[in-house]
Amino acid sequence: MTIEDEFGRSLLAADVFGISIKFLVDDMLNAVNKGIHGLFKPSEIHVVITVPAIWSDAAKQFMREATKKAEITKERLTMALESEVASLYCRHLHIHKPCELSNACMDKLPIGTKYIVLDAGGGTIDVTVHEIKSEHTLREVRPASGGDWGCIMVDKEFENLVERIVGEKVFEKFKQEEKEDWLDMQREFELKKRETKVNSADKIRMRFPLSLTKLYEKHSEKDSCTSLASSGYAGKINLKNDKMTIPNTVFVELFDKSVTKTISHLKSLLAEDSFKEARILLMVGGYSESLVLQHAVIEALPKFKS
Ligand SMILES: Nc1ncnc2c1ncn2[C@@H]1O[C@H](COP(=O)(O)OP(=O)(O)OP(=O)(O)O)[C@@H](O)[C@H]1O
Ligand SMILES: [Mg+2]
Repeated sequence: MTIEDEFGRSLLAADVFGISIKFLVDDMLNAVNKGIHGLFKPSEIHVVITVPAIWSDAAKQFMREATKKAEITKERLTMALESEVASLYCRHLHIHKPCELSNACMDKLPIGTKYIVLDAGGGTIDVTVHEIKSEHTLREVRPASGGDWGCIMVDKEFENLVERIVGEKVFEKFKQEEKEDWLDMQREFELKKRETKVNSADKIRMRFPLSLTKLYEKHSEKDSCTSLASSGYAGKINLKNDKMTIPNTVFVELFDKSVTKTISHLKSLLAEDSFKEARILLMVGGYSESLVLQHAVIEALPKFKS
């Protein structure tokens, strides 16, 4: 498998992953060694690589190959499923949620308790059922299932929104020629995305780079306000100077695809016996922090209302 860079040049994917993992390990070693007397050697470090639970054996094997390229021997490597790691970790957190279930603190659940784990990450969303076996162990009652509907899908929808405003050609040029502005725009979107609430009357204000406006005006010979007219966002999104104002409803719609797929998958699973027994749903992974996703899960599955 190869990966292309922005100029279409390709490299082996395993090399790219290997170099990235090596960078992380080296960087961690540097940071740790700064804070201690003496030195940790790479051979003294055991590496745990976490992967989404729904990854195929081939995908996991690919990660093993990549870690080999990062000079991590198999004796020093553990591969772990993200939902399992998160689930075990939560068992040792004192999560006290006001809940109808008096025993809903993860650290107090009795042996034999079954609970659903929804791991919502950047790339994937996966759902599984775990059963508490002992203080430190759990059993996977139902193999994970899910799909690639993670939070990156929301980022992609934002890209589509900008592309609809300025057109595909201009947007491509912007991404190629004004990388810094594009990176800034993505970073700002990441922050706004994390703050998004469902029922808010607020408008979201973001910077609309002047370099993008200029590119649009140069290539379309129209001013940027005209671009909105044909985008379907006229009267909704407002562009003024280098500011873009987006109504909260339009912003929340960016989550629709990912949230709808997640909820319909969850609902389809709830018909299964292993899911019917579970009275707790544990949301883990970065995207689980999203109030939009939390709201949709609680609306669709009120029995898990916290
Ligand atoms: N408060 C938040 N609201 C919305 N999304 C968030 C929030 N915090 C983090 N995210 C998103 O969560 C994702 C990262 O989550 P996580 O670290 O669980 O992913 P991952 O495990 O690397 O991905 P995968 O499981 O697909 O391999 C990013 O896409 C990030 O934008
Ligand atoms: Mg993950």
